[in-house]
Amino acid sequence: MATTSSSRPAAVLPVTDLRPENPSVPAPQSVTVSQPGETKLPLKQIPGDYGLPFIGAIKDRLDFFYNPGRDEFFRLKTQKYQSTVIRTNMPPGPFIASNPKVIVLLDGKSFPVLFDVSKVEKRDVLTGTYMPSTDLTGGYRVLAYLDPSEPKHAKLKQLVFFLLKSSRDKVFPVFEACYTGLFETLEKEVAEKGKSSFEAPNEQAAFNFLNLAFFGSNPADTKLGVEGPSLINKWMLFQLHPILSLGLPKYLDDLLLHTFRLPSFFVKNDYKRLYDFIYESSGFVQDEAEKMGLSREEACHNLLFATCFNAFAGMKAFFPSMVKWIGRAGGKLHTELAQEIRSVIKSNGGKLSMAAMEQMPLMKSVVYEALRIEPPVPYQYGKAKKDLVIESHDAVYEVKEGEMLFGFQPFATKDPKIFEKAEEFVPDRFKGEDGEKLLKYLFWSNGPETENTTAGNKQCAGKDFVVLVSRLFVSELFRRYDTFEIELGETSLGASVTIKSMKGASF
Ligand code: HEM
Repeated sequence: MATTSSSRPAAVLPVTDLRPENPSVPAPQSVTVSQPGETKLPLKQIPGDYGLPFIGAIKDRLDFFYNPGRDEFFRLKTQKYQSTVIRTNMPPGPFIASNPKVIVLLDGKSFPVLFDVSKVEKRDVLTGTYMPSTDLTGGYRVLAYLDPSEPKHAKLKQLVFFLLKSSRDKVFPVFEACYTGLFETLEKEVAEKGKSSFEAPNEQAAFNFLNLAFFGSNPADTKLGVEGPSLINKWMLFQLHPILSLGLPKYLDDLLLHTFRLPSFFVKNDYKRLYDFIYESSGFVQDEAEKMGLSREEACHNLLFATCFNAFAGMKAFFPSMVKWIGRAGGKLHTELAQEIRSVIKSNGGKLSMAAMEQMPLMKSVVYEALRIEPPVPYQYGKAKKDLVIESHDAVYEVKEGEMLFGFQPFATKDPKIFEKAEEFVPDRFKGEDGEKLLKYLFWSNGPETENTTAGNKQCAGKDFVVLVSRLFVSELFRRYDTFEIELGETSLGASVTIKSMKGASF
């Protein structure tokens, strides 16, 4: 699905290439993809508009956050312009971002242009059209804000690979210990109060797990105690407030969060406490950093960001989301998962291992399906490095150098032209040979699931680690319980899940 920088993309491919062979899929229509040569898709102007300066940006911001709200905001524009590639403003706009204008990509065919770092610049675009102050990251532009063309990108990413590699032998035992703690907390609360919020125990488990696995350091034994998650949440709020809503009354929420930057000195001490903890725990990684020509200080700010922002925030968003989708799917799926997981563990001598999990096709598919239906990081940005052509299912569009592309991932991975019953949680969607063919349309890691993260791309450095720990979570959950019931709410960072009951393993 490559695009070219020429304005004349081409070659005809049937839409069957977008789906595994399946007799229940309706007969395909022909579409084209851009390859050198001629095209059958029409070249169109990108529809949509930015409105009047200032006013247009504020209007789009209010529409995006409050009325009609995010998903409807995009859905209405798609209907209005009959296009999945549209011009619009994205928050925050004035007075935080000087240029809110973007081209939004809302289908699974145009979205992957964001992974091609020869076409898009990923410099300072992690959070979109604004970048949080570097005062929040020790004065450094940390890895996630660097474009691969910047010399430090490869070095810092190698350092994160080193960190992940050295955690390899600790992941299984430490995960079991930390998440046994989580389950025991939930059980105790459910027994005492009839329900338990998943959120706080999940954050505590994730923070302890990550630090024990990465640095062999137990936060509870240090000055941090149990405060790590709350320090991170506050620090993240100062970075992400321009693109979050806290559910306050509309104009107050907008004024407080989206109009001015919250001054970073309010979290200086919190950050310092996290930094001191990472600094004291990560000597062996700092040694490696020095060998690579990086300073110990820069390494530590990057380790902090990778652990507390990339990894912790990712797990904080994704684990409740998994519990939500699996919980909503109900008892039948729970029984099937418990049967699959327990029988494989049994035939593996009672042990859960990487190889054992490979033999659990339903469990693996469930994790992928949760990543598809609600990608934990829903927004991806990239600035056109040169004039280029992007292609949706319906048309070809020209983009000028310097224009900002914005992919809204939940629409790309729920593209009905790629996924059947795209809006539904289909637990076995990625199972079997046909299911696995769909993995190339799973984009949660800022790249197709079938591709590898490298020092030269911008795919999540923790891609395999995330899949591993998510599989571990579902396996441990159904090793321990036959079924569970939940109640749902929403938070600024995703699902808020309350556990109502948990039925211990009966077989
Ligand atoms: C559920 C958990 C996670 C999710 C959903 C997630 C998702 C992502 C996404 C979408 C990006 C690309 C952002 C962009 O440039 O637009 C990214 C980048 C990154 N992630 Fe993850 N991530 C997770 C966990 C982790 C973990 C465990 C680590 C390892 C410590 C990690 C390290 C990184 C790093 C270092 C980058 C920047 C890569 C680069 O600059 O080339 N992430 N992640």
